[in-house]
Amino acid sequence: MKFIIGVSGGIAIYKVVDLVRKFKKRGDEVRVVMTKAATKFVTPELFREISLEPVMTDVFGNDETAAHIKWTKWCDAMIIAPATANVIGKLSSGIADEALTTVAIAMTKPLIVVPAMNEAMYNSAAVTANLSTLKTRGVKIIDPSKGELACGGEGVGRLPESEEIVKQVDKILSQKKTLFGKKIIVTAGGTREPIDPVRYIGNRSSGKMGHAIAKAAADRGAQVVLVTTSNLTPPENVRVINVESAEQMRYIVNAEFEMSDAVIMSAAVADYRVAEPATQKIKKNSDTLTLELVKNPDILFELGQKKNHQILIGFAAETQTVEENAIAKLKKKNLDMIVANDVTAKGAGFAVDTNIVTLITSKGLNSYPQMQKSEVAEIILNELEKFLTNDKN
Ligand code: C5P
Repeated sequence: MKFIIGVSGGIAIYKVVDLVRKFKKRGDEVRVVMTKAATKFVTPELFREISLEPVMTDVFGNDETAAHIKWTKWCDAMIIAPATANVIGKLSSGIADEALTTVAIAMTKPLIVVPAMNEAMYNSAAVTANLSTLKTRGVKIIDPSKGELACGGEGVGRLPESEEIVKQVDKILSQKKTLFGKKIIVTAGGTREPIDPVRYIGNRSSGKMGHAIAKAAADRGAQVVLVTTSNLTPPENVRVINVESAEQMRYIVNAEFEMSDAVIMSAAVADYRVAEPATQKIKKNSDTLTLELVKNPDILFELGQKKNHQILIGFAAETQTVEENAIAKLKKKNLDMIVANDVTAKGAGFAVDTNIVTLITSKGLNSYPQMQKSEVAEIILNELEKFLTNDKN
């Protein structure tokens, strides 16, 4: 592998000398680009000697012209270690004022950032927000470890040991990006249909299945839009749009649909909503209260009517005659695949971490044993990939 290692001016820089040696020792090629501050800790000559490659400290005055672009073409990935709060801030706002930030912004290949700094800096609102911005853009972050800090004291912010960085880099780069370039909409959670400003009609869906699918798709390199009602922490590297009602979900899904390659509707969309939600909190004045419900639009059915190239995957959460109902829905909604499950079965359905599913396409059905939702996500995406490849031919 060919790595660019971007070194910024953190005291942990001494560990990066070892990191470069480790990569070189196992046969990788390494070029180092340093910020000005980094050169105050270690001279470029040291990195030149151990990498046996040129070291860049400035965009100007290099042996080759437009060296920053040529380097990004040369490498397989860039690792920024240590990444200071300053560099992370610049990367998140697209500032390219030095060689390191200029190379980083020109990267079209995997970019891995390894933050290292004092704990208070690492936990600051700015660094937290900047790192999450980078994650949503597909930048991979290797979390700092906990322990003795170079600035004194203990805490989170330590640059991991070089073996650990090598291990994590290998893991990140070995993940197959089989869905790279594909845009996938995933819906998750149960919709909340307002009754009045404080109450809603909901259902037991937790959003776990949809979030697991979004994560697995992002890990395969897809550009994921997660339209969710769930309070779960969303996975990294996905664009999250929080919604509440079926109508909001429908609006967002429709807005994203044309440019997408697939929609996986794992959300439990309410079939009915309150006809006219009260504008003020309903008082408990009477002994009975009648709510008039009207039918919600069937988002998936509508998508099935207008799809052109998009692959549509639906869920059929059933409590009886699971497969029959699911097959009927596959046809009625014009879907490519439906994931059927009996939500009353132990270890399946809402809120638990496992599921028992049958994947149904026009070609037939495949029943699986109880699995983690993360594993179910993988088998769904394996099928989706088959559809997308056929689609291309
Ligand atoms: O018809 P049923 O609600 O059982 O179908 C379930 C599938 O349809 C799920 O994928 C669900 O997300 C989707 N759905 C929808 N809009 C609705 C109801 C369900 O998109 N109003």
